[in-house]
Amino acid sequence: VLDRGDQLRKELDAARLGGATIGLVPTMGSLHKGHASLVRRSAAECGLTAVTVFVNPLQFGAGEDPARYPRNLDHDIEVAEAVGADVVFAPPVAEMYPGGRPATTVHVAGVDTMEAASRPGHFDGVATVVTKLCNLAGPCRAYFGEKDWQQLQVVRRLIEDLSFPVEVIAGPTVREADGLACSSRNALLSPAERAAAPVLYRALTRGAGEDDPADIRARMVAVVAEEPLVTLDYAELVAGAHGGWRALVAARIGAVRLIDNMEVSNRCADA
Ligand code: PAF
Repeated sequence: VLDRGDQLRKELDAARLGGATIGLVPTMGSLHKGHASLVRRSAAECGLTAVTVFVNPLQFGAGEDPARYPRNLDHDIEVAEAVGADVVFAPPVAEMYPGGRPATTVHVAGVDTMEAASRPGHFDGVATVVTKLCNLAGPCRAYFGEKDWQQLQVVRRLIEDLSFPVEVIAGPTVREADGLACSSRNALLSPAERAAAPVLYRALTRGAGEDDPADIRARMVAVVAEEPLVTLDYAELVAGAHGGWRALVAARIGAVRLIDNMEVSNRCADA
């Protein structure tokens, strides 16, 4: 386990010199099955896999408290090692941001809906920390989960626009048996809230197979409205693969905000 950036850089540089491809799995810890699947894939595809565990204060907005984010470094180290991580990088905040809030941050323009609208400044915080982690790691393959779909697009854009020597690899969303997308935040749900949470998955699947975006959206909204413990933040559709639609949903359950998304229509533009 490393907690200094220079140690991480040295270790990964040495592995690269020895011919290893580096796999980087950035996380905020509280590792779950979704993270484990990314680490496993990295371990299968790369000579050295580094998992970063850092609850990045920059990506928490007004009214969001990083101190409330679930943390358990011992558990994270155990999980990461069990599924093939070679290095865990878990820096303190003072290592990543020695002067407090950095004067230089990274902004990916043109992202202003859904998560960006609901959580102003969130993606600047993500883009800034991903920039720092990529700079510390050097040339690598970086693994991100599709559950954070908008984040994945922001990271892809950042890496492309700024020519980072990083290949972004997206891993599919991993779900619990009842469809709930794995998320570190699920641990914060009360038993009643946990029982209500799969409504997001039901909303996404209810729209599946339809082609009309207004229809898909209306179905999603209606499904979430059936669950009294859940307040919808947004239900949106964006262009998906092959001319189809990807549905994205965010909702509050008590004090916990959850997001999920799914490809819902396979309509092919040139069919
Ligand atoms: O997806 C996350 O856990 C975080 O947003 C990330 C990418 C590790 C940046 O802090």
